Amino acid sequence: MAFNGETIAFVGAGVMGEAMIKGLLHQELLQPAHIIASDPRAKHLETLRERYDIRVTTDNVEATRGSDVLVLSVKPQVMSKVLPELRGHVDSISLIVSIVAGVPLKTIAESLLNVRVVRSMPNTPGQIGQGITVWTAAPEVGGNQRKQAEILLGALGEHIYANDESFLDMATALSGSGPAYVFMFMEAMVDAGVHMGFARRDAEKLVTQTLLGSVLYAQQSGLHPAQLRNQVTSPGGTTAAALHEMEKGGLRTVLSEGVWAAYRRSQALGQ
Ligand SMILES: NC(=O)c1ccc[n+]([C@@H]2O[C@H](COP(=O)([O-])OP(=O)(O)OC[C@H]3O[C@@H](n4cnc5c(N)ncnc54)[C@H](OP(=O)(O)O)[C@@H]3O)[C@@H](O)[C@H]2O)c1
Repeated sequence: MAFNGETIAFVGAGVMGEAMIKGLLHQELLQPAHIIASDPRAKHLETLRERYDIRVTTDNVEATRGSDVLVLSVKPQVMSKVLPELRGHVDSISLIVSIVAGVPLKTIAESLLNVRVVRSMPNTPGQIGQGITVWTAAPEVGGNQRKQAEILLGALGEHIYANDESFLDMATALSGSGPAYVFMFMEAMVDAGVHMGFARRDAEKLVTQTLLGSVLYAQQSGLHPAQLRNQVTSPGGTTAAALHEMEKGGLRTVLSEGVWAAYRRSQALGQ
């Protein structure tokens, strides 16, 4: 059993922190009494307490007192305030899991005087347990702590371990920001449907189910995307006409350039 009565402190209980708490409780991986969340907004904390029956506090240091595991789930710009605040109070914590974008393992370990750090990059579908997280761990994180990290991150969906921290910036660009690219694609498809004459709700239903069905089909068939695309593309047909326009407009290059821009930005923010 990776968790055996340990208490997990969440510093920052916004969208992602709450998603992790919800996943852990719904999957019955932890008892509510073993979770404490700290956040500046008392009203928000009260909602979380009512919703999940967890312990809450507006004091970050108090949240970590007596806790075994610390999850850092604040926005990146808040880390420069939170890390000095926690310094000297988390030496005995056996595992620190950060989901904060762009803050390196070294920065967290040196700021908190604790080297048992896991750094991860989840994504927003984690809110319904359908996310994917790339994570890495400092060498000092032991076997049981790695299992605990897997359980915590598994509350958001799938996860992949990376040996090298540099994959975290790549994951930020691909899967972390990825949902935004998909939503923009969805929006553009729906707008095209409305432009042709569909009612918006019909266009939304057509596009959503087309995306969902295509992804599940690709996953279940195991075929290469090019093979799947060829199945829809008859000689001289409608799909071929559409794909020709999309290639002409540089769709692949634009997507690739977008991902690279996110990667460069992630690297720059981490410095
Ligand atoms: N959303 C994504 O797509 C995504 C994906 C992967 C990773 N992440 C990472 O996940 C982290 C959290 O993102 P999020 O979307 O959950 O953000 P969020 O909803 O803004 O949650 C952050 C929470 O931290 C609270 N907070 C602010 N200052 C604090 C302090 N000094 N001490 C403790 N808590 C404080 C915020 O309260 P207030 O609202 O009152 O400021 C908020 O409730 C980020 O670092 C982000 O990089 C996000």
